[in-house]
Amino acid sequence: MGRRQELEKRQMLLARFGRIIAVETRLDSLLTLIAEEVRRILDADRCSVFLIDDYKGELWTKVALGIGEKVLRIPLGRGIAGFVAKTGNAINIRDAYRDPRFNQDLDRITGYQTKNVLAVPLKGRDGKSLGVFEVLNKNKGSFNEEDEGFLRILATIAASFIENATLYEELRRSYLETIYRMALVAEFRDQEDTGKHLRRMSRFSGILAAGVGLSYQESEDIRYAAPLHDVGKVAIPDSILRKPGKLEPHEYEEMKRHTTYGSQMLARAESRLLRLAARIAIAHHESFDGNGYPHSLKGDLIPLEARIVAVADVFDALVSERVYKGAWKVTDARTYILEHSGKFFDPDVCRAFDTRFDEITSVMDEENRRAVPEDASRLMPPQHKPDHQPGHQTDHGQQTQPGV
Ligand code: C2E
Ligand code: SIN
Ligand code: SIN
Ligand code: FE
Ligand code: FE
Repeated sequence: MGRRQELEKRQMLLARFGRIIAVETRLDSLLTLIAEEVRRILDADRCSVFLIDDYKGELWTKVALGIGEKVLRIPLGRGIAGFVAKTGNAINIRDAYRDPRFNQDLDRITGYQTKNVLAVPLKGRDGKSLGVFEVLNKNKGSFNEEDEGFLRILATIAASFIENATLYEELRRSYLETIYRMALVAEFRDQEDTGKHLRRMSRFSGILAAGVGLSYQESEDIRYAAPLHDVGKVAIPDSILRKPGKLEPHEYEEMKRHTTYGSQMLARAESRLLRLAARIAIAHHESFDGNGYPHSLKGDLIPLEARIVAVADVFDALVSERVYKGAWKVTDARTYILEHSGKFFDPDVCRAFDTRFDEITSVMDEENRRAVPEDASRLMPPQHKPDHQPGHQTDHGQQTQPGV
């Protein structure tokens, strides 16, 4: 190819790169996308984007292509990526195994054989070091100066997108954690194992939402809003909420108000998730046949999200121990739900419950097996909780961002 054509091709690739990555705001998918594009543009066998985890003093990457979705962690300062992150200098190595900075541990973990490596620093807006862009094993020959210049430009383009996605991810996670904590506060007096109930019914709700055909995003929203369904229980006195026996009629009338209390607490929120939670709080005890509370709504007049959460919540309440009742057998609880299809519960949701029952029980087992130290991390979904172990490490976790 002539010089001029070569240049034009590169310009086109750069423009395409910017366009493609601008569309993705989720850090996880963004990193995968960037790695794949850069690999192709530089004609390399592999590309890894390492991000700095300031908190742990490590670099992590999740995009080593060809080994699937693994998270690799290396201490800052070690290996080629560690060197580049620390010094801010690019390096181009033709024979990795003969370079003292190269750390063979990663190859040992991944079963890959690194030959040549080009690595440039990834810098944020104010020159802050964000991580390292690394391409491995050029398909023909080794990386030259032009490749280096090109990789620097790609890194510059990618940096601001990565920085934005990181901030967005942080915001999203602290927001979700706050929702969980609110839900926990509300149910803290109610049950021994509040965190477990919330996580289980939250995940059941997500499964059922997907099962009735809602989109991934809608199902995720329902999953995250569901834990707030009983937030109104904060306003119920202990003498009722924690009564070991059956409630007197007047006590039950008060108890039922947890639905309206909850929706009053969440009403007119600006946030989409909190408004969804408000609709769930007010309507999760409505009954499909119109005999529920507080408004005796019937069928489709009950918001779908509330019909979904009703099944998830009652199923989990039945299999759980409460101050006022023992735990039911799983099969009995399943029968109860299916028997009340069209009565208490939406038949579509019951059908999803039936078809996805295996998934529901395996999620339940998974949650029940979890260690339960009383700390914040147990309230967060597992994929947000990377293990920390010193030194090199691989895991299959869905870690999406460093620092927590
Ligand atoms: P919860 O304990 O989270 O139960 C949620 C829903 O699960 C209940 O809504 C009910 O539909 C179902 N459920 C739970 N346990 C049983 C059971 O043993 N048998 C049957 N058939 N269904 C069950 P419900 O009845 O509207 O109650 C709402 C909340 O009121 C309950 O939330 C609980 O906090 C409280 N509550 C209800 N009954 C009693 C009671 O007898 N004693 C006390 N202390 N609290 C009660
Ligand atoms: C519902 O009304 O959907 C829950 C059923 C019940 O109150 O037991
Ligand atoms: C959630 O993410 O909604 C909580 C349930 C979980 O994944 O543990
Ligand atoms: Fe409730
Ligand atoms: Fe509940």
